[in-house]
Amino acid sequence: MNTPVRCDLLIRKITSLVTVASGAPGALSSPGWDDLGIIENGALAVREGTILAVGKDAAVARTVVPASHCEIVDGSGKMLLPGFVDPHTHFLFAGSREKEYGMRAEGIDYMEIRRRGGGILSSVRSFRAASDETLLCAGADRLDRFLRNGTTTVEGKSGYGLTVDEELRALRLMNRLNERHPLDVVPTFLGAHDVPGEYAGKRADYVRLVIDEMIPAVAGHAEFCDVFCEKGVFTVGESRAILEAGKRCGLLPRLHAEEFAPIGGGKLAAEVGALSADHLLVVPEEDVIAMAKSGTVAVFLPGTSIGLAKNEFADPSLFRKHGQPIALATDCNPGSSFTESMPAVISLAVSLGGLTVPEAIVGATRNAAAAIGRLDRVGTLEAGKRADCVLFDAVDPCAIPYRYSTNLACCVVKNGAVALRADQVFLPNGRNSQ
Ligand code: NIG
Ligand code: FE
Repeated sequence: MNTPVRCDLLIRKITSLVTVASGAPGALSSPGWDDLGIIENGALAVREGTILAVGKDAAVARTVVPASHCEIVDGSGKMLLPGFVDPHTHFLFAGSREKEYGMRAEGIDYMEIRRRGGGILSSVRSFRAASDETLLCAGADRLDRFLRNGTTTVEGKSGYGLTVDEELRALRLMNRLNERHPLDVVPTFLGAHDVPGEYAGKRADYVRLVIDEMIPAVAGHAEFCDVFCEKGVFTVGESRAILEAGKRCGLLPRLHAEEFAPIGGGKLAAEVGALSADHLLVVPEEDVIAMAKSGTVAVFLPGTSIGLAKNEFADPSLFRKHGQPIALATDCNPGSSFTESMPAVISLAVSLGGLTVPEAIVGATRNAAAAIGRLDRVGTLEAGKRADCVLFDAVDPCAIPYRYSTNLACCVVKNGAVALRADQVFLPNGRNSQ
């Protein structure tokens, strides 16, 4: 018999251990219940931040021994999921735009508010005026909220600076937050988020600035390059040039595509080999076919239906039909979707956006990790992966969307350490004791 291995965190007697680790590798299209890989009465053992063993409680108990400092967590009556991965956010911003939300509720749309000087450019003014300290505090506060809602990895975009120095500042601050905060922050360069006021009427000059100066300056500070490819913002041609320039400097392409008008952003994402194309509310079928062939993950952002005050969603049936994996993200930003809650996004995706519960859970974990190139490390609960997982005060994945707006996350484990524990506060005495 093999000698048991020492572990430093052991979660035992988990009523439902949702591994999301079905056989096939990679992102999943049209996942069903079997793909959630649920183990009843399971256990998960961790050593030095890495998952050592996952399986039935009795089997795991036979293969590991708790080290003297080992933390043992009782999972009875609970469900364990991989920590949510949020693959599309603009969380580092200053100020708020709730007045614009009020205007949209009165029928003035997002693009019209932008034309009137609000929108992204108003957040650019706030960002430029904010000190590093202000941005770090606002950013850390939002990261805390992500964590409290069960997110353990978050992508974050620049794009409210729109000068070489300010874009670099955004990425440096995100990297600093990544070092200081338990959450993993994955930085994306989005210098092509909009054309700043000082380049009004000179979009071609701004695109040159992005390509010739910003991209070389930010390479090494970001993993991805993104563009807001949209009618009236950046064309397909401009977006292609920016993404290709990013690739030459080692930035992997991603894209805001086909949100308001179909202009070929989905096809462009496929052609440049983007890891993901995001939004996709108006994407034509031929673009979905191209994306499915190139392995580009479709990221749905159903939170924008709240922020934009309109009941519109990307159509999942089109993506299922072509075997195209779907991921979910909050799009956390001050304009179109101000939330740090992946459970809220899962609720919207299921209740209004037409996803099944397994599709939404896979979309918020495994497929979301694939959308930011992290599936080798996170997104499923398997031996060898980072121990990022969340205990929920529920036993069935349906509870997450069903209990909309209730935060059921009661213990968040990041890199093998308990980063946050709410159960002692909220549950009756003794219910979580060994
Ligand atoms: O993904 N569409 C572009 N970017 C964001 C909105 C950013 C903002 O309004 O500040 C989005 O919806
Ligand atoms: Fe966005």
